Amino acid sequence: MTTENNYSIHTMELGPMENFVYLIHDHASDRAAIVDPAWDVEKMLDLAREKDIRITDILLTHSHHDHINGIETVLDRHDAEIHLLKAEADFWGASLPKPHLHYGGDTIKLGASNIDVLHTPGHTPGSACFHLDNQLIAGDTLFVFGCGRCDLAGGDPEQMFNTLQKIRRELPANTVLLPGHNYAPEHPHSTMDEQCSGNPFLHMENKDDFVRYRMQVHDRIRDTPYHAVSKEQALAALK
Ligand SMILES: [Fe+2]
Repeated sequence: MTTENNYSIHTMELGPMENFVYLIHDHASDRAAIVDPAWDVEKMLDLAREKDIRITDILLTHSHHDHINGIETVLDRHDAEIHLLKAEADFWGASLPKPHLHYGGDTIKLGASNIDVLHTPGHTPGSACFHLDNQLIAGDTLFVFGCGRCDLAGGDPEQMFNTLQKIRRELPANTVLLPGHNYAPEHPHSTMDEQCSGNPFLHMENKDDFVRYRMQVHDRIRDTPYHAVSKEQALAALK
């Protein structure tokens, strides 16, 4: 759990794919937003009940099954509103109950806490990251020492390159990365500083190298659990 002045973020690893489900608890209002509810999400709902927190919002980083299969369980127990990017809703095509459709640059207000929405396409067309102060809930865009696949429907490695370059340029080194899966159990979360020195996908400086590494090289030479990779090691793998 991480605590800022006006909110806490609770983390649970749930399900068979090491998904992280996050609960952002706004202290002033005792409201909470659950991010990517899936699998045994009841455990997070139980935590909310113990703490007398009302879940009023569901935030989706993207629409893949392993990030959304607990939505109905949440809605059975809480009158919560669903937030996702319009681009992801268009890609997904699901009929959701009164969704709030967002664009990159929007801010979601949760009581006294502000959650900035970043549009980070690459894994899916409407993938989002949620940014609170110095914390980035990154879904399947950026993992600790990894990044999301780009070979599934709607994936695009060129977009992922642009997305990761932008994250790298714009987010301060002390930003805490809260990924969508626990693929580096020795580091369930990390900082941008650590990622800039050990994430092979952030070592690729040109788009063609990145695309080749993501689409042809990476999955042949690496598997989870992920560990840090130096820039020299990452570039050597391209030869
Ligand atoms: Fe995904």
